[in-house]
Amino acid sequence: AAGELSFEERPGSLEAIGEAIEQCRKCPIGCLDNRAVMGEGPGDAALMIVGEQPGDQEDQEGRPFVGPAGQLLDVHLERAGIDRSRAYVTNAVKHFKFVQRGKRRLHQSPTAKEIDTCRWWIEGERELVQPKLVLAMGASAARGMLGKTVSISKVRGQAMSLEDGSELWVTAHPSYLLRLDGDAREKQAALFDADLAAVRERLA
Ligand code: URA
Repeated sequence: AAGELSFEERPGSLEAIGEAIEQCRKCPIGCLDNRAVMGEGPGDAALMIVGEQPGDQEDQEGRPFVGPAGQLLDVHLERAGIDRSRAYVTNAVKHFKFVQRGKRRLHQSPTAKEIDTCRWWIEGERELVQPKLVLAMGASAARGMLGKTVSISKVRGQAMSLEDGSELWVTAHPSYLLRLDGDAREKQAALFDADLAAVRERLA
């Protein structure tokens, strides 16, 4: 769980966390040829949106959710009437995990242990931002918030509560939608939209 490894005292500002994660080598992902990608958005946002980890494009640009999954997320957020610029957008894991195949860097899922190690940082972000509601997208994000693995299909569509009283909503990851086509894609997109609409309602 978070804090099992000995970290220094947690930095007291988002900016300082951003600097600290750049130096973090507590798990093997931090030791790859990548950069840390810090969360982005207002430090007092009511909504915190959590993904898995930066992808190739996020690693290059140093910003969360700017690649294909981020573009799809933007479409759905807009449809739900959620203003991304008012949300704090971050990831459960702060560095891009990949294997190099020729010129391409292929995404690799983080292990539970890697996610749990990185909880040190996301808990710091959550303590500082104090969102009313956290939207965790995908199994890795849900683990990052809860410290245990849950089944998305079982827990989506309902409010859970985190120790500090904030609400946690879990939904699918937009990358999952990107991997589907046809009816399966439509069905999952509709479920994703329904989750976002519920979140929007809770924030109103
Ligand atoms: N996928 C994620 O989980 N996070 C990002 O920032 C980009 C893609």
